[in-house]
Amino acid sequence: MSDKEPKHCSFCAIPQSPSVPLIAGAEGYICEACVILASQVVNSWSRKKELAAVQESVPIPAEIKQHLDSYVIGQDLAKEILAVAVYNHYKRLKHQTTRTSLGNSEAEVEIGKSNILLIGPSGTGKTLLASTLAKVVGVPFVVADATTLTQAGYVGDDVENILVRLLDVADGNMSKAEWGIVYLDEIDKIARSPEQATGTRDVSGEGVQQALLRLVEGSQVKLPAKSRHNKDGHDTLIDTRNILFIAGGAFPGLEAHVEKRLQPKDSAIGFHAAMKGAEKPSLEAMLNATEPSDLRRFGLIPEFIGRFPILAPLEPLDVAALIQILTEPKNALVKQYQQLFQYENVTLSFTEAALVEIAEKAIARETGARGLRSILEHLLRKTMFDIPSQQAVLECVVELETVQGLAPITLIKKQAEEQRQHAGQS
Ligand SMILES: Nc1ncnc2c1ncn2[C@@H]1O[C@H](COP(=O)(O)OP(=O)(O)OP(=O)(O)O)[C@@H](O)[C@H]1O
Ligand SMILES: [Mg+2]
Ligand SMILES: [Zn+2]
Repeated sequence: MSDKEPKHCSFCAIPQSPSVPLIAGAEGYICEACVILASQVVNSWSRKKELAAVQESVPIPAEIKQHLDSYVIGQDLAKEILAVAVYNHYKRLKHQTTRTSLGNSEAEVEIGKSNILLIGPSGTGKTLLASTLAKVVGVPFVVADATTLTQAGYVGDDVENILVRLLDVADGNMSKAEWGIVYLDEIDKIARSPEQATGTRDVSGEGVQQALLRLVEGSQVKLPAKSRHNKDGHDTLIDTRNILFIAGGAFPGLEAHVEKRLQPKDSAIGFHAAMKGAEKPSLEAMLNATEPSDLRRFGLIPEFIGRFPILAPLEPLDVAALIQILTEPKNALVKQYQQLFQYENVTLSFTEAALVEIAEKAIARETGARGLRSILEHLLRKTMFDIPSQQAVLECVVELETVQGLAPITLIKKQAEEQRQHAGQS
């Protein structure tokens, strides 16, 4: 009989043995398993603290929308959908981190994430909405261009690199990255091309959709081996379950699929066919009526569509909206050119009729607001070339005739001004 009691781990009571060494403390002992468990618990504390810091200043949907409003004109529906999605994302985050480890958690409902698909014509603000949103949200946010992605094994960006970038934006903090938001731009460009809908597999499009599926559906994804986040040759896993995905695309020609679906079958002939020409629904109405089956016909695979349950349509921009875009946002084009002219001490102004004409020209180009810059650049190029060599110019006025190409920009010069002043003095 030994005179000493066998030593036990003070936490789990396992007795000391050659395979279970114990660390001695002032009062008791601890085994390896308990040390590891304790370390995990402590880690989860700091995780919770970090995430709690993120959601201290959670903006409410109205605030998010207000912020978007100062950069993006119109698109109220899309803004509201995005604002609510981001707000709910925060709420899920909060719910997750304030939940106590045991007990009441089972009574709570697990809230799933709702990825969003933005659909709207080219140049109507999809990318702009995403990049503006990135500035408001306190969680890591990356914008990835789907056209640069390739399926594994092909030249280009692997989809996993999106997650590497998310981790970069989160300063390497995995728990923050796992609550990030990813915007997948130009998603319509990875649709399966119709010619290849049957027959051979379309490597460029469908392959990328398949690869993205793994990220979007929420799983443990291994970061690429060459990523600098992989330390000491260990693979780094990132859990994408809580990453919010927003996809956006112009989907040119999608409205044709919607229209076909909405038309009754027998309408191709006779009376109905005549009706069809008479009241062709607007592009906006078509986009609002978009359903998952239309996207499938466009060339997205059903599994992919199914993971974006919220469709947010953007509206085509009309003349009034384009004029607002020209003049109102914080970095509106007209303001930018006025600033450029101001550096030369010249005041630049546009007449109302000129703005309307510019907007109409942009609509004719069918590139949305994107056409505005090139129209302005073309209009002002010569003047911007001339002005630095002409000291006397005080003011430039762009009029309707200028935009129509019928007259040059009206320049108001100092001489005239001085002469007037001289005339007043004498
Ligand atoms: N609603 C809007 N409000 C303000 N500016 C806009 C708006 N829509 C477009 N613009 C302007 O037009 C430019 C192009 O818009 P954006 O890149 O968002 O288009 P997009 O919808 O992503 O088009 P695409 O499908 O071709 O990528 C923006 O940089 C912005 O200056
Ligand atoms: Mg875009
Ligand atoms: Zn123990």
